[in-house]
Amino acid sequence: MLRIYKWHSELRGIGRIFYSHKPPAPVKDIGPRRVFKVYRFEGIDSRKEPTIQTFDVDVSTCGKMVLDAMIKIKDMDPTFSFRRSCREGICGSCAVNLQGRNCLACITLIPQSKVVNLYPIPHMYVMRDLIVDMTHFFNGYNSIRPYIIRKTQGPIGQYQYAQSMRDNLKMIGLYECVLCSCCATACPSYWWNGRRFLGPASLLHAYRWIIDSRDEDTEQRLKDLRDDFKAFRCHTIMNCTLDCPKGLHPAQAIAKLKLLISGLQKKENPDMDPSRFASSGDWTQKCKIK
Ligand code: SF4
Ligand code: SF4
Ligand code: FES
Repeated sequence: MLRIYKWHSELRGIGRIFYSHKPPAPVKDIGPRRVFKVYRFEGIDSRKEPTIQTFDVDVSTCGKMVLDAMIKIKDMDPTFSFRRSCREGICGSCAVNLQGRNCLACITLIPQSKVVNLYPIPHMYVMRDLIVDMTHFFNGYNSIRPYIIRKTQGPIGQYQYAQSMRDNLKMIGLYECVLCSCCATACPSYWWNGRRFLGPASLLHAYRWIIDSRDEDTEQRLKDLRDDFKAFRCHTIMNCTLDCPKGLHPAQAIAKLKLLISGLQKKENPDMDPSRFASSGDWTQKCKIK
């Protein structure tokens, strides 16, 4: 069977198109009953070992997404714990491991499978059931200083920074990241070197801030990443890209970041002076991009 994967970086940046000679197999109707095998753990203080608990769920009585089934299970057993907030793939809090793959439960359909396995995202310290400790992940993210740094103009927030459409398009496929950590916790290099390798999500954000035409701390940002581990422990295994529920391509961002860190490529100069509105007249004029 011939399969062609085409990554295209125009328009929505990092969409995935999948072609195949074979038509997709028809979905077999397996009825509404599912057996959910769910990881349960009461926390380290309980001194009890983790267990797998089985729930028989009629999925015709809940919504179509995995999160709907999880809420249904919580109705059956109120002690079942997991994170969720927006239920539309924006907050990034409902990341789980479903049938062995990381996903956001709220935007993933309940699988057409009699047995559904639901685990916490892998290689994280479990606090309770599907809730993991995200401290280390967010420490890594904070270490890349995920905000604009200006050196030549006064305090941030005084006026709007100008950016051309072309410069803005460079960040498409990067800024949509919701920090769910599905990519990082699917990355073998992050499992093995998590203390020193920043992992795909933090590196995608590092690249996003480095190429931002309004940011002025490029040299220091690249210097901070110039060691054997922080970025270069990525071996382009691509699990991160395969598991990103937002369809982003962290592996590609890391590859481009490595070119900048190693000096093989340079950041382009901004198309327009970001501080061009600093000394113009009233606020409406300041916001007008010509
Ligand atoms: S491409 Fe790099 S960051 Fe992504 S899974 Fe592979 S090693 Fe990890
Ligand atoms: S790159 Fe994708 S998988 Fe990784 S944190 Fe961002 S949204 Fe989640
Ligand atoms: S509940 Fe917010 S991303 Fe799933």
